[in-house]
Amino acid sequence: MALSRDMSQDQAFEMVQTLLDAPESRFPLTFNSDLPRIRELFHAATRNQWDPKTDVDWDLLKPESYTEEQRYAARLYWSRRAWSEYGAISESPSLQLRFGLENRPSDMQLFFTIRSQEEARHAEVCHTMAEKLGGYIEKPVQQLFEGSVSTHGVRRATLNADVPLEGIIAALVCTAEEIAFDVFKHLDDVTRDPVAKQIVRFIMRDESRHCAFGWYFLEAICETLTPEQKTMIENSVITMMEKVELNGYHSSWLAPENPASLAEVEADRITYEAGLGSTVEEAEKPVFVATVQRIRDQMKPLGINLPPFHHDKLGAI
Ligand SMILES: [Fe+2]
Ligand SMILES: [Fe+2]
Repeated sequence: MALSRDMSQDQAFEMVQTLLDAPESRFPLTFNSDLPRIRELFHAATRNQWDPKTDVDWDLLKPESYTEEQRYAARLYWSRRAWSEYGAISESPSLQLRFGLENRPSDMQLFFTIRSQEEARHAEVCHTMAEKLGGYIEKPVQQLFEGSVSTHGVRRATLNADVPLEGIIAALVCTAEEIAFDVFKHLDDVTRDPVAKQIVRFIMRDESRHCAFGWYFLEAICETLTPEQKTMIENSVITMMEKVELNGYHSSWLAPENPASLAEVEADRITYEAGLGSTVEEAEKPVFVATVQRIRDQMKPLGINLPPFHHDKLGAI
């Protein structure tokens, strides 16, 4: 049962209590590296920290060289990026809670402490970019778009003992973050503004480790999973694809068509054409399709079989 808005406060409290009331056995607490590739990611993350305030050459940004329309569109785009990064700040510690409660290898705990910091940096750098372009925008201009960008439900899932951790990581990391990473690679190719490009590269560098974490984890545990657990993982990924990604969480052109999403798509186009970040349907479509196919190919040897997905603008992929 997932936490939902129509659940009473008592029910919600009872459920969270159940998860937190699970017997906690902390000892023996070892720092053995059971997942050495993830331990190495932790060390790589420690070595590669950066400061959004000082490591980005903000002086190279010349807002006055863009039109009012371009600045406004880019403010919307970078604000939207900040919203999704902000969501990641809270999903990260909630996952960490699960690692602790389930006595997962310490490598995962260590890596996620820095992963949370990295998401905070991503939120800050996107917020700063929007501010420098004229001002951060706190919420979707048209409320209708909130349904596409408000949440992907990971925080709720992490507090739900019925949803296996493996499924959450497969859906969040190996699917959603993998899609986001490929979009960043594509943005690096199409973004011309030097500061927007720097930001894309800083975030992308971190995201490559975030994605690696998910695959290293799944590869390490896949042989221990039962067919039932693999089916649950498949269901988590399917939900992430159908309810979140194909609903426009990362790409506004995939959102259900309505005046609100069309306005976001238009803002993306203006931002893209100005070289200030973002992309458009015709440029992103082949990237998105290739990513989904790669995720499917990469999951198959792990015993996780994804069905074809459908979207009016993509057909069956
Ligand atoms: Fe991020
Ligand atoms: Fe991330």
